[in-house]
Amino acid sequence: MKVLLITSSARGHAIADALSRSRHKPEIIAVSPSHNPGILSLATEQHVCDIMNFDSVLDIAKKSSPDFAFIGPDDPIGMGLADALQEIGISSVAPKKSCARVEASKGFTRELLAKKGIDASPKFSVFTRAEPELLLSYISDELCGDYVVKYDALKGGKGVKVSGDHLETVEDGVAYAMECIAECGRVVIEEKLIGVEFSLLSFVSGTQVVDMPAVQDHKRAYTGDTGPNTGGMGTYSDSNHTLPFITEADLEQASLFNRLTAKALEEECEEPFVGILYGGFIAVKNGVRLIEYNARFGDPEALNILPLLKTDFVDICQAMITGQLTDDLVEFTNQATVCKYITPEGYPENKDQVGKIVSFPEIPNNARLYYGDVTEDNDGILRLGGSRTAGIVGIGDTISEAENIAETLCKQVQGPVRYRSDIGTKAVLDCRINTLLQIRSS
Ligand code: AMP
Ligand code: GLY
Repeated sequence: MKVLLITSSARGHAIADALSRSRHKPEIIAVSPSHNPGILSLATEQHVCDIMNFDSVLDIAKKSSPDFAFIGPDDPIGMGLADALQEIGISSVAPKKSCARVEASKGFTRELLAKKGIDASPKFSVFTRAEPELLLSYISDELCGDYVVKYDALKGGKGVKVSGDHLETVEDGVAYAMECIAECGRVVIEEKLIGVEFSLLSFVSGTQVVDMPAVQDHKRAYTGDTGPNTGGMGTYSDSNHTLPFITEADLEQASLFNRLTAKALEEECEEPFVGILYGGFIAVKNGVRLIEYNARFGDPEALNILPLLKTDFVDICQAMITGQLTDDLVEFTNQATVCKYITPEGYPENKDQVGKIVSFPEIPNNARLYYGDVTEDNDGILRLGGSRTAGIVGIGDTISEAENIAETLCKQVQGPVRYRSDIGTKAVLDCRINTLLQIRSS
């Protein structure tokens, strides 16, 4: 058994770890944009190349003849790497380009859901014409000045701007919307939702959908959810696979949205969505709304979810590809996880620490260390890249126990790094619970 793993980052390391635990003992042929010491330790081969250069990836794929490919990041999925691999006879755990529009185009997804009567979206409109008066009147009259402007293509998580946060006035919103239309031809403008966000990821094969434990991400750089947005500073999941601040009905609603969307994609794209459907939701006053869909594992969400998987990850991957995905193939242990990302001190604002030495403590059985943007010298010394360095995951019977494990290990990391010590703490959990209670009782 051979698996072509196209990814880097801590998410890629977590995927490689899950593959390597399989009873099939697959050879992992890794293709990454940079060396990742974690993936390298588990792979038979690690090829470093530009993963957006499909010819290079296809060359490696042809030579290795894998049983299937797993594609981690959004860009190659959105650009159709799964289609290109299929043309040379290799199936992927990742949707084809048509279905991947669920992530690559926020306008496509909002319009698809509206067309299929899936009531998951806030009030929204898609604009293609650069007419400032039209944009201004939608933002001020229809949305009463509380709005979000979304670039309608992949932009490395940097395309969304929210009023009162990145955009101060209505005119700022119009200016950014005009910029989006000039750059990518379309912009989505939508109502700003107030609530608490969470992620529900599902394994999907057409209309077969099996959910993973729900996770909450923390996108802001600094303690107390302050500072700029990042790729995600850390995440937690609970032992009962739901989250302390949402109700059973909230989780069921999010799960139903994933199912309905998978079906809608199959109908619209005339092919099954195969891979990971990642719903980014927000629990609001009257239930749950969709913020966005991604067509891949979350980073760090994968770092919480995959260590809990009790069943065989390769079996799940093969079942997604062959359309034989069933509930009994997917079982997670009833444990809680807290993941804290170690990042360079200056992340995300500057890259001053690139090349500096970082070292990690020994990792016990109730924790995981997944390497992200870090390189390893020939003598085993680890050096920082500019982005997120490594995710440390604590696993325990409760969120508090998992948090303690992660926190204790994070404190022992040496080098010019930082992390958010508040993630997974009781204070932050209580704050989430109270925020939603207040929203729902007002
Ligand atoms: P996205 O890339 O769509 O996940 O958006 C990035 C972040 O923008 C989300 O995690 C939310 O915090 C915020 N956001 C996106 N859409 C909305 C919305 N309609 N209302 C409030 N916040 C939003
Ligand atoms: N955790 C955010 C993302 O993977 O997009």
